[in-house]
Amino acid sequence: MRPKEKTEPTSGLGAALRLRRDALGYLTRLAQSPRDVIPIRLGGETLFLLNHPDHIQRVFKENRRNYVRSRYYDRLRPILGDGLFTLDGPEWRRQRSAAQPSFSGVNLKRMVEEMAAITTSEIRRLEQVVKARQETTATKIALRLTLRITMKSLFGRDLDDDEIKEIFRAFTILLRVSEKKMWAPVPLPVWIPTPTHKRYRDAVLSLERLIGDMIDQRLANPAPPNDLFQAILEAELELDDPRSFRISIRDQVISILVASHETVTSSLVWLIATLSQMPAIRSKVAAEADRILGDESLDFETVQKLTYMKQVFEELLRLYPPAWTMSRRALVEDKFGDTLVPKDGTVITSPYIIHRHRDFWDNPEGFDPERFAPGVERSHPWAYFPFAGGNHVCLGNRFAMLEGVLIGSMLFRVFEFDIVPGQKIEPVPATTLRPSSPVLVRVKARSGSAELRQVA
Ligand code: HEM
Repeated sequence: MRPKEKTEPTSGLGAALRLRRDALGYLTRLAQSPRDVIPIRLGGETLFLLNHPDHIQRVFKENRRNYVRSRYYDRLRPILGDGLFTLDGPEWRRQRSAAQPSFSGVNLKRMVEEMAAITTSEIRRLEQVVKARQETTATKIALRLTLRITMKSLFGRDLDDDEIKEIFRAFTILLRVSEKKMWAPVPLPVWIPTPTHKRYRDAVLSLERLIGDMIDQRLANPAPPNDLFQAILEAELELDDPRSFRISIRDQVISILVASHETVTSSLVWLIATLSQMPAIRSKVAAEADRILGDESLDFETVQKLTYMKQVFEELLRLYPPAWTMSRRALVEDKFGDTLVPKDGTVITSPYIIHRHRDFWDNPEGFDPERFAPGVERSHPWAYFPFAGGNHVCLGNRFAMLEGVLIGSMLFRVFEFDIVPGQKIEPVPATTLRPSSPVLVRVKARSGSAELRQVA
C-alpha cells in the first residue's frame, strides 16, 4: 500500500518554486499519489508527470513518433551548443546517423582494450595514494577515469593532468550554468555580461582551443584513426560550410562529452559509495574479478563473463539513474488513461521515480543486485529505463555498460574504499543525479588481493 498522499501544490508559484529548489524531492513526493498522471500547472502551460510504466512505454515505444524533445532542452542549447544531447529534427538525425556506426560491435571491441589500459594506469596512480596513506574523493577517481576513457576511445586523444584539470574546470562551469537555466522561470540570456556568464564564456573558449587543436591534428594526419571524432569531422567536411565547420564540431564534441562522462562518473561515484557500505556484495564482485580477470590484457569477451558485476551496475542504475528525468513534447494530442495531453503538451518521465515505484518493485529502496540475476522476471518491461527509449535512446548504452562493468571489476579486485565519516551522501538532481558530496574516501589495498603485496 502506498503512503498517504502528501499535499503538494501542483500549480502556480508554489509548484514553480519547489521545482526550482528541489525538483527531485518535489516530483518524488507528487509521485506518492495513486494517480498515474499528475498535471502540474506552471504559468500558461501544464506539465504531465507520468507515474506508470504503461505511460512510459507509450512515450518511448508505442507512440514514440508523437514525442520530441521538450522546449526545456532549448534552454540548454545556448550553453551546451547544438549537439545530439540538445537537438531534434533533421539536424539531430544528420548528427545521429554520422555518430551511430562508431558504436558498432567491432568498434566497441577496440574500445574495451583502451578502457582496460587507462583503468590500469589509473590503478597505478591510486596505488601511490594508498602508499602515501592519503585521502581522495570518489568523484576524482571516477572523473579521471571517465574523462580519459571518453577522450581516448571516442576522440583518439589521451589527456595529461593539466588537460584533465582544464576540462574539469570548464565542464563544472558549463554544467552549473545549464542547471540554473533548466528550471529557472525565465532564464537570463548568456549574452548579458554577469560574472557567471563571463566565466561561462572563458570555459567555452578553453574547450574550443582544445577541440580546435584536435581538428588541426586530424586535418594534418594522412592516415587518421577510424573513430567517432573522425566520423563527425568527415560529416562536417561533406557539408562544406567553412563558417559553421569548427563551431559545429565543438558543439557535437561537448554534447557527447556531457552525455558520456557525466553519466558514467555519477554511476561510478555511487558504485564506490554503495559498495563501501556493503561488504558482502563487494566481496562477491572481487571474487568474480579474481576468477575471471587474468593477468593478460582484458578484452570484450572477458567483460561479458563479469555477470555479477553487471547485475550490480544495473541495480545502481535503478536506484541512482544518472539521467533522472527526461521531458518530451507531444506533436498531437494524446491520451494517458483518462488524462488528455494536448498538442504541444509536455510530459515528464523519470526513471528515478518509476524505478522506485512500489507497485513494480519489492523493497524499492533496498540495494539488491539479485533483481537482475538471470531468469528473474521484470514486473513490467518499462519499469526500468535508465537509457530512455525511442528515437533518443542513449547512443552510448553498450559503451556505458562495458565501461561501468570493466572499471568496477578492476577497481574492486584491487582496492577497498572506506568512506570518511561525517559526510552526507544523498542524491542531488544536478545535470545528472549526483551524490551531495564528492565522497571523501580512504583507499586500501584489498585484503586477500593478489596485488596486495605490491601495493601495501
Ligand atoms: C550510465 C551511463 C549512461 C546513462 C544512464 C545514459 C542515459 C541516457 C539517457 C537517459 C539519454 C536520453 C536523454 C534525453 O533524451 O534527455 C541519453 C542520451 C544520450 N547518451 Fe547516454 N547515458 C549513459 C552513458 C552514455 C555514454 C557513455 C555515451 C557516449 C559514449 C552516451 C551518449 C549519449 C548520447 C549521444 C545521447 C543523445 C542521444 C540522442 O538524442 O540521439 N551516453 N543517455
